[in-house]
Amino acid sequence: MTNYTIQDWAAGYISQDQEYDYLIEDIEGKIPPSLEGTLFRNGPGLLDIGGIPLRHPFDGDGMISRFTFRNGKAHYRNRYVKTEGYLKERSANNILYRGVFGTQKPGGWLSNIFDINLKNIANTNILYWSGWLLALWEAAEPYRLDPLTLDTLGIFNLDGILKKGDAFAAHPRIDPDGPTLVNFALKAGLTSQLTIYEFDKNGKLIYSNSHKIPGFCFIHDFIITPKYAIFLQNPVKFNLFPFLFGLRGAGECVEFQPEKTTKIIIIPRRNSQEELLTLEVQAGFVFHHANAYETDNGICLDSICYSALPSVEPDADFRQTDFSKVEPGQLWRFNLDFGQKSVNKELIEANCCEFPTLNKDYVGREYRYLFLGSADTAEKENAPLQRILKLDLVTGEQQAVSFAPRGFVSEPIFVNDPSGEAEDSGWLLSVVYNAARKASDLVIINAQNMSLEATLHLRHHIPYGLHGSWVDECFYKDF
Ligand code: CO
Repeated sequence: MTNYTIQDWAAGYISQDQEYDYLIEDIEGKIPPSLEGTLFRNGPGLLDIGGIPLRHPFDGDGMISRFTFRNGKAHYRNRYVKTEGYLKERSANNILYRGVFGTQKPGGWLSNIFDINLKNIANTNILYWSGWLLALWEAAEPYRLDPLTLDTLGIFNLDGILKKGDAFAAHPRIDPDGPTLVNFALKAGLTSQLTIYEFDKNGKLIYSNSHKIPGFCFIHDFIITPKYAIFLQNPVKFNLFPFLFGLRGAGECVEFQPEKTTKIIIIPRRNSQEELLTLEVQAGFVFHHANAYETDNGICLDSICYSALPSVEPDADFRQTDFSKVEPGQLWRFNLDFGQKSVNKELIEANCCEFPTLNKDYVGREYRYLFLGSADTAEKENAPLQRILKLDLVTGEQQAVSFAPRGFVSEPIFVNDPSGEAEDSGWLLSVVYNAARKASDLVIINAQNMSLEATLHLRHHIPYGLHGSWVDECFYKDF
């Protein structure tokens, strides 16, 4: 049984319209002195516009949080991504765009009919690469920010690579070899187009190629190995009419077809002469992958699967979510056999979990430790994420740090300990909404023994975020 309250959980979805800048002084425990660098986080910061609540948190404007760690101290700064839509809606104090996940302009279907002008809200992830700080949203180009000030510099076409209106996914993968930035862009339609981009560490495009994929695609994430890029084509269909006629947001028109199989699309990377391979398996719906690696006869792939798509119900208020009626995310392992063209699947973690993360040196490589946000329950029931879980994929052993009943975790980020060699030598950083304080904490967990090393109390809350990343550089140095 879980003992959180829905009121505590929902309080983490209140808008944060202030922008802060301060040295974090209220700290329990000790920041590891060798933890030096920057944690960037992105997520919806506004959950209402002019007092009108958004229908879905994924429609909220992107707010960047930056935590800088240096000499055992920490500094916080947050700034909104000043997108065109954010600036226009803030000055009008009204909803002017349709949201992908169902937020409609006031005025009912007459105001929304045939309005396919979606707002680029830049709210899903944030990546620092070769001097570019990019706020990512999968349906449009990234916004570039200044890493020193977090000021928005504008839409960024990756030095001429993206054309106006092109997509660039919010889940880039970094191959430790190079390192190399690998990302994709999806143009969904009756036949979809998947483009893969690879950039070297100086931001130079070293490879790109487009592939036609039969059928409509809803692909949020992908995963790489040294030789392949792997995509799961969820079994969905897109109902265009309610969207065009202004009755539903685009995300509400994606209909999951649980009776159909998921296609696993394996695309050879770079200039390989191998053919694209498609395998099929009953996998449910997948947003996120944990990792993948090459085996003697194919690939081993670990992903978070839902047996039903968490749908956006018309007129439902997400703040009142009945978790018992939503299927939990579960961690599954898929063993792909290229010769047999078969897929074997195995349930690794049945309890509700999401936001997998691992040591960045093991991306695409055989690995042992996976870290996730998970529900604080021993049952296979759905509940908010309240603990950070460590899985040993070799022994099956589990360790967790729980923040229940009043703490709610976000995606953990693994940071390598520069003095350690072991795969789990490092720290996990996570923003935890602390309902008792009505404010957020940044927690630092020792990834080896899963002990809490420090809790940094912020002066305010950060609405539940989506994704973030760690950079070894510091962009704030006045401390
Ligand atoms: Co995601």
